[in-house]
Amino acid sequence: MNFDKIFSLKNKIVVITGAAGLLGRQHADAVAKAGGIPVLLDLQAELVEKLATDLQSRHDVLTAGYRVDITQESEIEANCNAILRRFGRIDALVNNAANNPKAESKCHEKFSRLENFPTLVWNDDIAVGLTGAFLCAKYYGSAIARQGGSIVNISSDLGLIAPDQRLYRKVDLSEEEQPVKPVSYSVVKHGLIGLTRYLATYWAKQKVRCNALCPGGVENINQEPEFLKEVCSRIPLGRLAQAHEYQGSLLFLLSEASSYMNGAVLSVDGGRTCW
Ligand SMILES: NC(=O)c1ccc[n+]([C@@H]2O[C@H](COP(=O)([O-])OP(=O)(O)OC[C@H]3O[C@@H](n4cnc5c(N)ncnc54)[C@H](O)[C@@H]3O)[C@@H](O)[C@H]2O)c1
Repeated sequence: MNFDKIFSLKNKIVVITGAAGLLGRQHADAVAKAGGIPVLLDLQAELVEKLATDLQSRHDVLTAGYRVDITQESEIEANCNAILRRFGRIDALVNNAANNPKAESKCHEKFSRLENFPTLVWNDDIAVGLTGAFLCAKYYGSAIARQGGSIVNISSDLGLIAPDQRLYRKVDLSEEEQPVKPVSYSVVKHGLIGLTRYLATYWAKQKVRCNALCPGGVENINQEPEFLKEVCSRIPLGRLAQAHEYQGSLLFLLSEASSYMNGAVLSVDGGRTCW
């Protein structure tokens, strides 16, 4: 078996949503490093175009960047047609875009608690994380089904377990005032696993594989030391991830290296969901 070949994405057209974000950039970089053609979708035209140009010059591969709001079906349909005109086919989709609803909001006390959580925020989180992933499957997935390929849905460790709300506690607040990780995040991330299993069977005859990747949390400079200490104590490896640490598993799921993997839920979380 030629390992260079089975991990290669040479000339594969890979559509990545939320490609301008923290992990989206890493996914795009992984695709480009493996010889694929990352097609970057996000909300800001200038930003995705610049990211695509940077990737192209760093890795000497073709790239493309488009402004697409994945909650808008007409934008996705038009973009899918544009990609097909430009590249002739689509080989893979990474459903990565999602809102990250925060436990706290500066403008709304007790905002994150279920009793107060604004329906508008819930609707927006579902629209991006779930409806957006469905719409991308509908158009880009249908294009992939013409010749086969791979769909990867980016779920989360919180697609497998409930958030440990003790992590967000503030000492000076009463029980009813304690901030929590909003319910919409759990529902979106669990829902993506349902979408994964559905798609894994739906286009199996067309040789479209679909798997979910469940990353754990990524370390960033805004995390307070107390939060970091608490969260790390719940992870067997004792630390959060670095942003680049999902590149290997994404490449595995997109490439022929995982050719018999379909409908799987791959947790890459330092062991967090074992405890
Ligand atoms: N960062 C983490 O710690 C972590 C952990 C587990 C899972 N995840 C998951 O990984 C994925 C990426 O996370 P991230 O940290 O890079 O998030 P991020 O917030 O940095 O990036 C998300 C990107 O999605 C884009 N986006 C939002 N709404 C959109 C829309 N309607 N249309 C198109 N693009 C839109 C945003 O502009 C942004 O660039 C998410 O699904 C997230 O839930 C992240």
